[in-house]
Amino acid sequence: MSSTTGNPDYRDSGLTFPDGFLFGSATASYQIEGAYDEDGRGPSIWDTFSHTPGMVWNGDTGDVADDHYHRWESDLDLMVELGLESYRFSIAWPRIQPTGRGPAVQAGLDFYSNLVDGLIARGITPIATLYHWDLPQALEDEGGWTVRSTAEAFADYARLVGAALGDRVAVWTTLNEPWCSAYLGYGSGAHAPGVTSPLAALQAVHHLNLAHGLAIQALRSVVTNDPQYSITLNLHVLRGSGPTGAEAVRKIDAIANRAFTGPLLHGAYPPDLFVDTAAITDWSFVLEGDLEIINQPLDVLGVNYYSTTLVAVWDGVSPRQMADGHKDVGGSPWPGADDIEFLPQPGPYTEMGWNIDPSGLEELLLALHAEFPSQPLMITENGAAFDDAVTVSDGIARVHDPLRVDYLQRHFTAAHRALSAGVDLRGYQVWSLMDNFEWGYGYSKRFGIIRVDYDTQERTLKDSALWYAALITSRTIPAA
Ligand code: FCB
Repeated sequence: MSSTTGNPDYRDSGLTFPDGFLFGSATASYQIEGAYDEDGRGPSIWDTFSHTPGMVWNGDTGDVADDHYHRWESDLDLMVELGLESYRFSIAWPRIQPTGRGPAVQAGLDFYSNLVDGLIARGITPIATLYHWDLPQALEDEGGWTVRSTAEAFADYARLVGAALGDRVAVWTTLNEPWCSAYLGYGSGAHAPGVTSPLAALQAVHHLNLAHGLAIQALRSVVTNDPQYSITLNLHVLRGSGPTGAEAVRKIDAIANRAFTGPLLHGAYPPDLFVDTAAITDWSFVLEGDLEIINQPLDVLGVNYYSTTLVAVWDGVSPRQMADGHKDVGGSPWPGADDIEFLPQPGPYTEMGWNIDPSGLEELLLALHAEFPSQPLMITENGAAFDDAVTVSDGIARVHDPLRVDYLQRHFTAAHRALSAGVDLRGYQVWSLMDNFEWGYGYSKRFGIIRVDYDTQERTLKDSALWYAALITSRTIPAA
């Protein structure tokens, strides 16, 4: 479905973005903040997981990370240097409620309140995500996302945060990538809490969807400004291989995409998802009235995109290929799809091993626009990990990262093509503002447009940051 004008490789330049299109960058609390035990913060599932030997590369943890908790003001100044118009950050639930319940910790609220004030003072639009995976451990001990009470607790948390920041935050995102929370957290076990159960993964899908709906209701009841409400999904751009490709796409599309867009935007789970997972569950955890709660109007749908996925029905004989881009730790993130395989795709690849394919972003935006024509969209994450080297000349440190510049240029081109085709695309938040704790890969993967030296906490603008600053100033994709 990709367009036919422009360079086939998406290396276009000179494309201008409209006024109002928000150029920003994104981070997440556990990945950058550090200060894991300060000012009353309780433990999250990622503290437990990263401190469990063998779960994260090199035994890395988020204890210190980018020390952003102490350096937030100078980090905001770096955003000004880049000319960022928006900043997508997440709020650590265990800083607000150390056990996931009870009154808010004032110091936790103050940290984010100061951050929001600091953004506004610098003319940067705050986009706040309530949940980017750092569930209070105490709630996990009660069942985490497999139980309904966690969704209810999330609504209380949303109300506390909304009451404190709901006069200034411009965009509220309830959840980041519930796909990862459910299927990597409770299915494959690659992410915290490291559970490997197909049933738990599907229970988590529903309770996350429910948490989203309840949180929007809670926010609406307390905010005093006129914010936009949103959720961020990592929808999978699926391609089928061979004669069984279409059936494989249908099945994975149900688990990966329609399990979220169905209830969120159509008010119903897809019937084929129930059929495909019937041996695992009868979905009786979906209670009367839940779908109405989940199906809230969204002012903007957040879209995270990195690469594409190639699937086929497995013949059951040859070794099953599982090149789905996720860390293989034993469990499956695909409940009910043991007959599907994930095929390697043509390169080039990023350091994550993910194939680079900007046409997938264009295709995803066009497909969402076709299915939900009146739904505004925002790219809430896109970016790439590459090995970066620091070079010093004339005493000035530089990071020449031409591969990341090329990746961004091609994906901004894809976004521009979607805009030109009529998609209501509101902005683009590059992942990530700075190198950070990349979950199971620890500090081994660098996604930042700003380099972080983890020994000194020194920040260095990479060439990609300078490229982005030029794009933001001119609103026009610079020549590579
Ligand atoms: C997304 C996550 C984000 C980051 C990028 C690379 O799945 O939302 O935190 O890890 O991938």
